[in-house]
Amino acid sequence: MLQNREKWGSKLGFILAAAGSAVGLGNIWKFPYIAGENGGAAFVFVYLICIAIIGFPVLISEILIGRTTQKNPVGAFAMLTNSKLWVSVGFLGVIAGFMILSFYSVIGGWTIGYVIETLRGSLSNFHSPEEAGVLFSALSGSATWTIGYHTIFFGLTMFIVMRGVQGGIEKSSKIMMPVLLIILIILMMRGITLEGASRGLAFLWVPDWSKINGQSILIALGHAFFTLSLGMGAMLTYGSYMSKKDSVVNAAAQVVFLDTLIALMAGVAIFTAVFASGLDPAAGPGLIFQTLPAVFASMTGGTFFALLFFLLLAIAALTSAISLLEVVVAYFVDEKAWSRKRAVLIFGGLIYILGIPSALSFNLMSDVTFYDKTFFDIVDFLASNVLLPFGGLMIAIFVGWIWLRSEVMIAVKTGAESFFNAYPWFEGLWFIFLRFIAPVLITLVLLNSLGIV
Ligand code: TRP
Repeated sequence: MLQNREKWGSKLGFILAAAGSAVGLGNIWKFPYIAGENGGAAFVFVYLICIAIIGFPVLISEILIGRTTQKNPVGAFAMLTNSKLWVSVGFLGVIAGFMILSFYSVIGGWTIGYVIETLRGSLSNFHSPEEAGVLFSALSGSATWTIGYHTIFFGLTMFIVMRGVQGGIEKSSKIMMPVLLIILIILMMRGITLEGASRGLAFLWVPDWSKINGQSILIALGHAFFTLSLGMGAMLTYGSYMSKKDSVVNAAAQVVFLDTLIALMAGVAIFTAVFASGLDPAAGPGLIFQTLPAVFASMTGGTFFALLFFLLLAIAALTSAISLLEVVVAYFVDEKAWSRKRAVLIFGGLIYILGIPSALSFNLMSDVTFYDKTFFDIVDFLASNVLLPFGGLMIAIFVGWIWLRSEVMIAVKTGAESFFNAYPWFEGLWFIFLRFIAPVLITLVLLNSLGIV
């Protein structure tokens, strides 16, 4: 069964695919708006610290579990322990992947829908975010529109994953990630050269510490997790296709670097434009679909930049969605010896169906709520705010406390001998973060999500 397990074609293949997973709606849609709501630069600073002290150590751990066992999350824990508890942690990861993908695909669909609307010219006549908001409500309020684009987005995701690790995920990431970076550079240069852009830059670089409180720190921490695709075995699964010749620490550092760079670049592109148009940076989730279309409409060449922007979002969402589907598929391929095609069709199909009530949460089912949350909100909340922090906590505890430290070190030094020779203090620091700092801080995030602190 093991002999034919797939692998990345190269280390670059892994980096681009993993960065593709990390760079998603979280970087381009969510990060700018939560930074906008929580005071800009000061929040960015807190976020960078969270990435360094929690994101990076946990990312190394997740990739390492996968690379060492060469298995999906369930198989990986089963191989490293004999305990049902840990196997069920792997299982929760597969379930979280199932849930996240179902609603992620709905928003991914919107991004494709907006590419089409831009091409149709619907975005060119706005004078205010309110007018853009009317279009947004009309589109998301249509069941045909939301389900239709969910179908297209999900179809693309299934198509890529069906073609396999090298032929599908790696190959498409090698095309999509450079395109994403080029688009982002163009948008950033457009933003910086707008009149009034400096106010946007100041918003991102000059901190207002009065906006930082316990709540915003927990938001930054939670986001550090989500943006690096941690806590559910996506990075573990991608790590499982990695060669033992490559350094996990180095690969994790490159993924963190790209993810952070792209979030900051998206912030620059968006806030320079928002401030140049004199609009509200704290517009919340509607920043992308309501404020930005109004910004583009007021800009020379706006249609072209709007098109690039929504294409950027669609690419970012797609490379993340394939990593979510791959977790579920890898489980059935490894553990149940299913063919990739069968796993994609059957479980992809089920995830697609679970996405339908999420798509309807903005229209036909918007009144169906539970504690004021729609179906979409509930799935998002359970997966992103409960299952992911829980999974991340368990991964930190597992590598920090359960897996024999000497074995962890043998595993992590494989392919990274020279790094650990050059920086012997790294081991101690990594373990302090894994054993103490990450578990305490992640527990706080989890308790906060559950409304306890
Ligand atoms: N990291 C992605 C983003 O920033 C979202 C994502 C993709 C994700 N795969 C994941 C989040 C796995 C958690 C776990 O949008």
